[in-house]
Amino acid sequence: MRRVTLTQFLIEQQRAGRVSADLRLLLEVVARAVKAISVNVSKGALAGVLGEAGTDNVQGEAQKKLDVIANEILLQANEWGGHLAGMASEEVETVHQIPFDYPKGGYLLLFDPLDGSSNIDINVSVGTIFSVLRNPEGRTDVTEDSFLQPGSEQIAAGYAVYGPSTQFVLTVGHGVHAFTLDREMGSFIYTHPFMTVPDETSEFAINASNARHWEAPVKRYIDELQQGKTGPRGRDFNMRWVASMVADVHRVLTRGGIFMYPLDEKCRAQGGKLRLMYEANPMAMLIEQAGGAATTGRERILDVVPGKLHQRVPVILGSRAEVERVTAYHLEG
Ligand code: AHG
Ligand code: MN
Ligand code: MN
Repeated sequence: MRRVTLTQFLIEQQRAGRVSADLRLLLEVVARAVKAISVNVSKGALAGVLGEAGTDNVQGEAQKKLDVIANEILLQANEWGGHLAGMASEEVETVHQIPFDYPKGGYLLLFDPLDGSSNIDINVSVGTIFSVLRNPEGRTDVTEDSFLQPGSEQIAAGYAVYGPSTQFVLTVGHGVHAFTLDREMGSFIYTHPFMTVPDETSEFAINASNARHWEAPVKRYIDELQQGKTGPRGRDFNMRWVASMVADVHRVLTRGGIFMYPLDEKCRAQGGKLRLMYEANPMAMLIEQAGGAATTGRERILDVVPGKLHQRVPVILGSRAEVERVTAYHLEG
């Protein structure tokens, strides 16, 4: 069987006019960084990379060693290629400027270097999430403002999931495509063309320990699912919660479902739990590209105009029919 690598896929996308030469380089570099992160993640205790870094990030969260390592790998890999105007990361307070000795390009890269860090020490899947925006025209200086564009402006988005195998999942606005890392060869092989989220599903993902904090529409929706066959939905639903957004979204992209981190009383003051620009937006673009839907409960995630880089947002995404139902419950209330 002839194997198509990520490199060949990207060159073909470039020939079809869907990605520029610079965007192709950007995606190649991100994929290369992801391979390096995958190596570190998979060595675990053997490389001494588990455990706490002993520092907090800008959001007051304790950083794990692998959060710091993954962040450094992505920053360093993307500094010198000349394709970027600037970077933003969950682990960095403000814009990461391209060093003066390197040329600047036209794109902005945002990332969550290591998603699901609470799962690192217990050997459960974690991931990397990224989003690509265009640097606004006519801007030579790159500030936080340059990044504050709605998710609908994303040029590309994707994630890597470090599970039993490492997969790289990508959209450049023409469907969702996944690649599996061949560790011996060191290359990503095109294994999942045009992933789609089935419209109907019987699987949901939510952290049910927050149930007492939920808003009425979320309580109503989850309660109806839990009533199963004898309830208003007339069938049983199954529940899954990995606590790595990447792993939960990967399941939804693979076999359908709904994933929710809604607004609740616990996270109301912050506006939600998940970060808009490097968690919610890239996942929303992927899910929409796969035929699903993604809302805050009240509006389409990709329409949210960000007010700050590390803004948080409620997230409800997955199979279209389910997301529309729970969004309708919010809008009725
Ligand atoms: P991160 O590790 O990048 O801070 O993200 C963790 C996020 C997300 O991956 C996951 O869905 C959620 O936090 C889990 O939250 P709970 O621990 O509240 O379930
Ligand atoms: Mn995260
Ligand atoms: Mn993270």
